[in-house]
Amino acid sequence: MAKSVAIFGLLFSLLVFVPSQISAEESEAKEFVLTLDNTNFHDTISKHDFIVVEFYAPWCGHCKKLAPEYEKAASILSSHETPIVLAKVDANEEKNRDLASEYDVKGFPTIKILRNGGKNIQEYKGPREADGIVEYLKKQSGPATTEIKSADEASAFIGENKVVIIGVFPKFSGEEFDNFTALAEKLRSDYDFGHTLNAKHLPKGESSVSGPVVRLFKPFDELFVDSKEFDVEALEKFIEESSIPIVTVFNNEPSNHPFVVKFFNTPNAKAMLFINFTAEGAESFKSKYRETAELYKQQGISFLIGDVESSQGAFQYFGLKEDQVPLIIIQHNDGKKFFKPNLAPEHVATWLKSYKDGNIAPYVKSEPIPETNNEPVKVVVGETLQDIVFNSGKNVLLEFYAPWCGHCKQLAPILDEVAVSFQNDADVVIAKLDATANDIPSETFEVQGYPTLYFRSASGKISQYDGGRTKEDIIEFIEKNKDKPAAAAHQEAEQPKAAAQQEVVEQPKDEL
Ligand SMILES: *[C@@H]1O[C@H](CO)[C@@H](O)[C@H](O)[C@H]1NC(C)=O
Ligand SMILES: *[C@@H]1O[C@H](CO)[C@@H](O)[C@H](O)[C@H]1NC(C)=O
Repeated sequence: MAKSVAIFGLLFSLLVFVPSQISAEESEAKEFVLTLDNTNFHDTISKHDFIVVEFYAPWCGHCKKLAPEYEKAASILSSHETPIVLAKVDANEEKNRDLASEYDVKGFPTIKILRNGGKNIQEYKGPREADGIVEYLKKQSGPATTEIKSADEASAFIGENKVVIIGVFPKFSGEEFDNFTALAEKLRSDYDFGHTLNAKHLPKGESSVSGPVVRLFKPFDELFVDSKEFDVEALEKFIEESSIPIVTVFNNEPSNHPFVVKFFNTPNAKAMLFINFTAEGAESFKSKYRETAELYKQQGISFLIGDVESSQGAFQYFGLKEDQVPLIIIQHNDGKKFFKPNLAPEHVATWLKSYKDGNIAPYVKSEPIPETNNEPVKVVVGETLQDIVFNSGKNVLLEFYAPWCGHCKQLAPILDEVAVSFQNDADVVIAKLDATANDIPSETFEVQGYPTLYFRSASGKISQYDGGRTKEDIIEFIEKNKDKPAAAAHQEAEQPKAAAQQEVVEQPKDEL
């Protein structure tokens, strides 16, 4: 959970800039989007061969932006030759919570396409504005694969900025064709599938192709790649692997987003180079990076290059500054990071080699170390966590807080009083750390919400404090659990339980 939240948070930060073009005038007339709840959901779904359901929450910003677009799309699609129904469920309402968990809703909005009376469930992966929604859903409601009958049809179908898969067959029957069609059905929300009897319709090397063969077109790298494998699983693997660019590009281009999402979904270590795409030398930087990526792509690393102009979200997330550009950061799935600011193009390869050889120390996000730290509650940052908490030989109560968190603000004066009452005890430290601006070692502290309080005794025993939030309760807890300094160090950390009455970390809820 913590891991996926970390990655998700980053993905969120990267994509959050997406512009919202909301039309000012929202019609107050008839609503085309069907409102469903726990009483009528299953009944309604079972009556439709194809229905789209949005799970939303009233407080979710992305949902509010989507609402007028979704409504407009619903109105257009209601007069489609075979009308398509768009529905919504307020997943925040208590009575609908079971529906939300039945459909595995983890963020808002979550949109699902339900087919066959709800028997087949697919993630909606299309655009978020009305025309895009209409186009995407028209395609989704039609056959999973489209017949290509001419070269013009082929080039229109393939387009310029997406992955498209076309099967060439001597006839539209047989095991190869059936397997291809079955996979097209399975992956239809991710890719466009087509089929043809005539390889000559296809651009790029048409004369050399004879079916049955599957050709995958992509707007990057080698531009197309063929496979004669028709085992369903093998074909799926071929498609997934061939559709990831050697270097994923991150800029303001929405057509890149599916690739960025794929990048963050890989189990690989993620190398991210941020440069100024419009600055001099950007092209040579890109090609140097690409060469290096080719070298390491089979070694568990995925590569992304981001334009600094579009990457504010990522910079904030990692605590990076623009004057550190060009910079590279590598993030492992366990949260560990490696970082090199002001990287020169000719050093990309050598730095990656050092990283691969284990010669780069992990990077810790940290606020600057405060110049003075005289208040009763001590300020801890990423870089002083070891000194103040782990190596001080003192009993430390540490609060992980977020600046926006209301419960944390309520707790602040209470912690102050606790700290004051221990001011004459040199063995006790009350401290706080802004968990949004400093890295926390996730193997030691589990911070799922704010505030989270941990206590580390002088001898190294770590436990989460989940008692009452009063001065008396906290003081009593410290008195009971503190050790004298210089007692035995290195005890096993206790596995903490989640504390009650927390504010849930806000970030993971909102999705692109
Ligand atoms: C079709 O797929 C099935 C299941 O993956 C496989 O057993 C079969 O060999 C495939 N047929 C061909 C012609 O590859
Ligand atoms: C990127 O480079 C261009 C051209 O040199 C410059 O005008 C722009 O300010 C730079 N952007 C950033 C964020 O440094």
